[in-house]
Amino acid sequence: MVYNPFSLENKTVFVTGASSGIGKAIAIECSKMGAQMVITGRNGARLNETFQALEGEGHLKIEADLSKEQDIRNVIELLPQVDGIVHCAGIIMQVPFSFTTKERLDAIFSVNFNAPALISQQLLKHKKINKCASIVFISSISGVMGTLPGLSLYSATKGAVNGLAKGMAVDLAPLKIRVNCINPAMIQTALLDAGTITEDQYEEDALKYPLKRYGQPEEVAYAAIYLLSDASAWVTGSNLLIDGGITLV
Ligand SMILES: NC(=O)c1ccc[n+]([C@@H]2O[C@H](COP(=O)([O-])OP(=O)(O)OC[C@H]3O[C@@H](n4cnc5c(N)ncnc54)[C@H](OP(=O)(O)O)[C@@H]3O)[C@@H](O)[C@H]2O)c1
Repeated sequence: MVYNPFSLENKTVFVTGASSGIGKAIAIECSKMGAQMVITGRNGARLNETFQALEGEGHLKIEADLSKEQDIRNVIELLPQVDGIVHCAGIIMQVPFSFTTKERLDAIFSVNFNAPALISQQLLKHKKINKCASIVFISSISGVMGTLPGLSLYSATKGAVNGLAKGMAVDLAPLKIRVNCINPAMIQTALLDAGTITEDQYEEDALKYPLKRYGQPEEVAYAAIYLLSDASAWVTGSNLLIDGGITLV
């Protein structure tokens, strides 16, 4: 057998937001590392595309809109025991702070913060998270290292996720469950096509990065593999920065 401290063999890993971008890459790369995958997403067709791309047999897919309490209940019911969770589902909302409304706050917090918090809590309550499991939040540099114009609400959700992860890391340490955040800068996914940035802005912005490009979804997936594997057994409450060096300059 090949020596591989990052192996995910004999681990069941649950990934939200697996129908697109970073979550899709995480699901596929984890399956290549030997994990049994449970994936969820809102769009059935795209979720199925990810499902078909998974390596190995016996994976499970669950279609769910995580802004809906009933769908979250359904996910909890259908999920088997897990050794790893990657909370990746998220939305971006670019709106000047003065246009904040209760509806906008609810819309972005329900998916980016409430859903991962409630799913984690419910899975613990139903004893579906195994001892020595690893919980990973896909946060952002926004709200943690800085922000951009119009991103106050998005940044608030990501800052909140980072705080939650630290508190969970302390509370769940007696169960040997680890909780960490990955904080990416710009990663090339559909999230960037949400009208927040034009092609010209994109090219100009990418050149500001010391490594002169945006990241790829797989480059976040490799970090998730590390945090899900036993290689990170002594890592909890951490923020792993994946940013091409942008926060240095
Ligand atoms: N891309 C970046 O530059 C970047 C940087 C830092 C952090 N992040 C974070 O990384 C995560 C993934 O982003 P991405 O770039 O991969 O975006 P993406 O390609 O737009 O994917 C977002 C995922 O979240 C799911 N999702 C959104 N709303 C949902 C809902 N109500 N219920 C269930 N699932 C829902 C989507 O499902 P459907 O497709 O099925 O609707 C999709 O699978 C997000 O949390 C984002 O904040 C991204």
